[in-house]
Amino acid sequence: MTTARKPPLRRSSGQARTVFACQECGFENSKWLGRCPDCSSWNTFVERFPAQRPKASGPAAAPLELSRLPHDEEPRLAFGLPEFDRVLGGGVVPGSLVLIGGDPGIGKSTLLLQVAYLAATGRPVLYLSGEESARQIKLRAGRLGVAGDGLFVLTETNLDAALQEAESLSPGLLIVDSIQTVHSDAAPQAPGSIVQLRQCTMDLMRWAKGTGVPAFIVGHVTKGGDIAGPRLLEHIVDVVLYLEGERFSSYRLLRSVKNRFGSIDEVGVFEMTGEGMTAVHNPSQAFIAERAGQDGQGGAVGSVIVPTLEGSRPLLVEVQALTSPTAMPTPRRTTNGVDFNRLLLITAVLTRRVGLSLAAQDVIASVVGGLRVHEPAADLGLALAIVSSYRDKPIPPDLVALGEVGLSAELRSVSQLERRLLEAERLGFRRCLLPQAALVRSKPRTNLELLPAATLQEAIKLGLA
Ligand code: TYD
Ligand code: MG
Repeated sequence: MTTARKPPLRRSSGQARTVFACQECGFENSKWLGRCPDCSSWNTFVERFPAQRPKASGPAAAPLELSRLPHDEEPRLAFGLPEFDRVLGGGVVPGSLVLIGGDPGIGKSTLLLQVAYLAATGRPVLYLSGEESARQIKLRAGRLGVAGDGLFVLTETNLDAALQEAESLSPGLLIVDSIQTVHSDAAPQAPGSIVQLRQCTMDLMRWAKGTGVPAFIVGHVTKGGDIAGPRLLEHIVDVVLYLEGERFSSYRLLRSVKNRFGSIDEVGVFEMTGEGMTAVHNPSQAFIAERAGQDGQGGAVGSVIVPTLEGSRPLLVEVQALTSPTAMPTPRRTTNGVDFNRLLLITAVLTRRVGLSLAAQDVIASVVGGLRVHEPAADLGLALAIVSSYRDKPIPPDLVALGEVGLSAELRSVSQLERRLLEAERLGFRRCLLPQAALVRSKPRTNLELLPAATLQEAIKLGLA
């Protein structure tokens, strides 16, 4: 008997297999899907025949030995606007791509127009606008006192055409306002779709790296809070800055969340005025200036000053709370600038461990000036503000408080204590309520009178005596 040999299994590696790709986000799958598992959009899958891997069009870049590379620091282009330069780490690095994100209307275009004007590159600056007409930009420039010599405005939404134009102008700085309005011929999708955003950002990255010219791109933040959904552009670009602030408040914080050339611990503080964004040089002073009882008499009910840190920068903020009796079965908790879950935690600790009857009280907590405080170091301040309001007893005007509150009402230590105390001292405060745990390892150098407390109960006794 002869045994028939099975033919060898044929591998499909050489064959082009079809894949289905989402038109919206580029997600690929071997089968057609009605709904994209990545970006959740419906009916966006189309069949795609993957191209064979193309041959390299030229020789590869030669590998370089790190030790033989020159050691010089990149020279930076500074704008002479210290709050802005600081956030970039001392200026923008040539050939880098910087993304500025923020809510619509927060002031991104205003800030960039001012920056464009200040850029002393010795070459023209190209402001590519897909959102506003040249006339609108001229009007705004007039309001900002920007004369506009050497500043060229291009209203074009086709990025390929715009970059071609840039080639002949040879600018020293490029600004793209916004990445959501431009489109590239290389992708068929509509402007603002994820594929287009990615394509345009990569085109701009290539352009910046190729020409050695820095470029800023504006990105509007979606309702979810990040630029174009899944933090997609952040990993492509070199630097990511966010401009934050509340609409109704004039203060704006420029925060760095990624920087390939510097620290991300920096924050710039601006105020939106009639003449555009002006730098706030003494932000702590600005944020606590309107506190009630600031005349040294009596102090303020429901208001506590907390020395927080914004990156590496100490900043005094005023945390306020208001408790008000309610007949509703579920009392309301409202926050503004304070983390909602943090407020729930603190009201729970105050109810269970301190014995405050907050079950029949609405509690509103807020940070003055449209600021947002993310730090647990503000816990104690918030807790004290609530107790102060509930008991209608003022907090002494010369007192600041800081410390994290744990679930058993224990007070936990905070980082960079000395820096915070120094800022409080600089602004004329005399006493600081703080966790005992913060003094265990070393005593901070400060002229403030320190009031250590191990638990929230102790802190309340000391602060609201
Ligand atoms: P804008 O820079 O257009 O915001 P974005 O580009 O982030 O969408 O700023 C919009 C707001 O700023 C607008 O509501 C008006 C206000 N504004 C001022 O308060 N002062 C000024 O000097 C300018 C130019 C704008
Ligand atoms: Mg704008």
